[in-house]
Amino acid sequence: MAREKRTATPNVPLMTTTLWDFPSQNYRGGAGRGRQGDSDYAGATPSYVIWNLLQRYTREKWLVVDPMAGSGTTLDVARDLNRRALAYDVEPTREDVFRADARTLPLETGKADFVFVDPPYSTHVKYSGRPECIGELDARRGHAYYEAMEKVILEIHRVLKPERHMALYVSDSAKKGSPLEPIGFKLFSMLSQLFLCEDIVAVVRHNKSLARQNWHDAAAQGNFFLRGFNYLFIMYKPKPAKKVSARSGHGAPKKKRGGRSKKKTSSRAGTGHPSTRRPKGRRSDRD
Ligand SMILES: C[S@@+](CC[C@H](N)C(=O)[O-])C[C@H]1O[C@@H](n2cnc3c(N)ncnc32)[C@H](O)[C@@H]1O
Repeated sequence: MAREKRTATPNVPLMTTTLWDFPSQNYRGGAGRGRQGDSDYAGATPSYVIWNLLQRYTREKWLVVDPMAGSGTTLDVARDLNRRALAYDVEPTREDVFRADARTLPLETGKADFVFVDPPYSTHVKYSGRPECIGELDARRGHAYYEAMEKVILEIHRVLKPERHMALYVSDSAKKGSPLEPIGFKLFSMLSQLFLCEDIVAVVRHNKSLARQNWHDAAAQGNFFLRGFNYLFIMYKPKPAKKVSARSGHGAPKKKRGGRSKKKTSSRAGTGHPSTRRPKGRRSDRD
């Protein structure tokens, strides 16, 4: 049987603003499976999003980790780009996704070069129904959803190498008759405790319900909005601050009495954040 011809380098646009939109859920071709994840998997991530992230924040052979992998879109994009990849899920859908809870990953500390995560957005999609599934937790009821997501974020921070990036893709939760649940802002606030913000992107949503005219009619008549975008929070893990011994005397620069230190500072100075030491060709290694 003739082998299917695959395009090794699909024509995927590299986004240059913080508003990302794509012609379809997945790009065509690719050197690996020839497709990315499963577009019929409810809640699958558009592969263009992951492609753009890996192009900018990773290099060939680097290890990409997805702790909530679903249909494995991250694995396929990573392989198309010749990155190594590890994927986990509480209910694996394929053999190369390992069964694990994203709050306790079977991975050593500081191993990942990049982490991508697209978690459940409260109870919007029914996944496996397993008790460990965070999609069973209603973000409007108590603190369980946010406590679980805080553990996921802490675990991502643990497995990620310093001076590397992670990205979290999420939408807010709107429910008729209830105030908006700003999941994005709340998760961003948790991320900011551990990481520096590289950027915030709005990704245009193209899910099936948004294609239905009756949904738009209902939104106009009922005076509410449909969720038109997902947040993509791109965060950077700085290198750990050097421990300063009390006796060494190499502490913070001494302030002049009654005045400020003359040393120029910015919130990112000395953190090793990429914006303080750009660029040296590190931003993109387009193949
Ligand atoms: C939005 S989907 C991910 C979609 C995926 N990026 C893709 O492209 O197919 C969220 C996934 O999180 C998984 N999940 C929920 N709770 C989890 C947990 N505690 N640990 C690991 N995975 C979990 C669900 O099973 C589901 O597959």
